[in-house]
Amino acid sequence: MNLLSIHDGHNCGVAIFINGNLVCALSEERITRKKNEYGFPMNAINYCLNYANLKKDQINQISISTKKLPPKYFLVKRNTNFKIEDYFKEQNEYWYKKIYLNKKIKYLEVFKDKKVKKSQLYYNFKNIKNEDDYLGMLDARKNYISNFFLLDKKNIFFYDHHECHAYYGFYGMEKKKKKICTVVLDGGGDDTNASIWMSQKNKLKEVYRTNIGNLGRMYRYVTLLLGMKPTEHEFKVMGLAGYALDNGNYYKKAIKIFKDTLFISGIKFKYKIKPKDNYFYFANKLKGERFDTISYAIQKYLEDMLVEWFSNIAKKFKVKDFAFSGGVAQNVKASKKILENKNISSLFIPPGPGDESLPIGAAYCHFAHTQKLKQKISNMKNPYIGISFNEKDLLFLKKNKKIKIKKTNNKEIASILSRGNPVARFSLDQHEFGPRALGNRSILADPRNQDIINLINKKIKVRDFWMPFAPSILEEDSGKIMKIIKNHKNFYMTISFDVKKEFISKIPAAVHPFDKTCRPQMVNKELNFKYYDLIKEFKKISRVGVLLNTSFNLHGEPIVFHPKDALSSFLRSGLEYLYIGEYLITKTSKKKYYLDI
Ligand SMILES: [Fe+2]
Repeated sequence: MNLLSIHDGHNCGVAIFINGNLVCALSEERITRKKNEYGFPMNAINYCLNYANLKKDQINQISISTKKLPPKYFLVKRNTNFKIEDYFKEQNEYWYKKIYLNKKIKYLEVFKDKKVKKSQLYYNFKNIKNEDDYLGMLDARKNYISNFFLLDKKNIFFYDHHECHAYYGFYGMEKKKKKICTVVLDGGGDDTNASIWMSQKNKLKEVYRTNIGNLGRMYRYVTLLLGMKPTEHEFKVMGLAGYALDNGNYYKKAIKIFKDTLFISGIKFKYKIKPKDNYFYFANKLKGERFDTISYAIQKYLEDMLVEWFSNIAKKFKVKDFAFSGGVAQNVKASKKILENKNISSLFIPPGPGDESLPIGAAYCHFAHTQKLKQKISNMKNPYIGISFNEKDLLFLKKNKKIKIKKTNNKEIASILSRGNPVARFSLDQHEFGPRALGNRSILADPRNQDIINLINKKIKVRDFWMPFAPSILEEDSGKIMKIIKNHKNFYMTISFDVKKEFISKIPAAVHPFDKTCRPQMVNKELNFKYYDLIKEFKKISRVGVLLNTSFNLHGEPIVFHPKDALSSFLRSGLEYLYIGEYLITKTSKKKYYLDI
């Protein structure tokens, strides 16, 4: 049975399963080169069909995530096209007037200059009644998809947003304990932003659902009031929080502002004071507080709330093993705190637990609802489920006069790295799924060299100065270098650990400079042998089995997808070495192609 699964909200994408086997999954943003792409993922679908060697009329069933998507967000491609000023405008000219002034205001009037051209929209909006008519939108989505795939509508299935997140966490696990609780927390979808699911054999039973578990929304709008992009830059707030001194008194006032609103009662979220909204209320209360205080306060509040919530869930349902999914599960520091709690034995966080994973989650949901669950369904142990390329895809490199190309190997690359040069690595094998680069689309560097941070920040990635870099560590060396909590296998950079004292000075570039944590990728020999071998070669020279690993993309762009994107990013940056397939690419001219910003 050929199942194609789609998410067409923000961070849209596709996954293909053949007889329960996950063949590939791909986010649309990788191809359109626009972050958090919104809408029908046409390009990703075409790439995945081609990769799976299927024609579109060979798809037997389609699963789609999220029932309630309002037409207005499709029409402006909200998360794709909005700049920070548009998010401020959204608050000031739409939500403020609606919530505080009780005005009837149309979103599409406020953003009429943002409306995308009809030719860019695949769905037909003719029968949609108004900008919030999600039922009309559901029909438009179904009609288009049915026509596109020449598939009867009875074979097209829509699934609840949170259920998709939950199944992604649950079926994504490799080894399941008898009793698993899956917790979902996100900015919101299908009128829900927090839910709890208990395993019953191979299925999930919903035990709690609410739309006031506003932690994700609060974090999102604190991100905005700090001048950063909501639904994208939350990790920067988390990075900033790490610089605050852990001194409760200094931050007491700011933390209290959050604590006075939402709190945990048993397994439920409840309000002390219910704010009218999640932006103006906090912006007003936090007036005069410094940026670092605000970021520390929201992070500390999130951590305390999550630890209490998970702990109460553990006690109530007598469960110790958890999966955590949804956008908030990307907060690696909060997850560290959850796993440290004495009531929790294990915490599985799949790669890319935000909305980018909804195509896979919808497929898992579909299997749970429709199949006899005896067939084997791929889990998410292996995150390298993207598209692979071959030698033919590299022929264009030989024609380019701006570069020199020669065959290379891991030994030579390790030597280049050890001499203080960052190297961008593009593997021709299937690329990793999710927002974290796990070696196949990575810029790598020597973590022993503190100065490498400035070099990468200035010449290559234009990253924010306070953001730490993450390491890739040979799995067998991880315990020597980090304080691993409860033997957690951190293959996807989904949780942070403390770095052991004796290693902080050995790999300074890969450690948060203030709180001395890192967000490691344990590199497993079986999952990615070529990358593992490169780190091994590096270790022979440096004596540390660690490489600094940051995603291969330039500032504000999605991670590179095609070898042509790799070359383009290479040429537009101060990178001097590109390791693509078995080739080493260098520039012919000494002139550097610095990023134009
Ligand atoms: Fe979500």
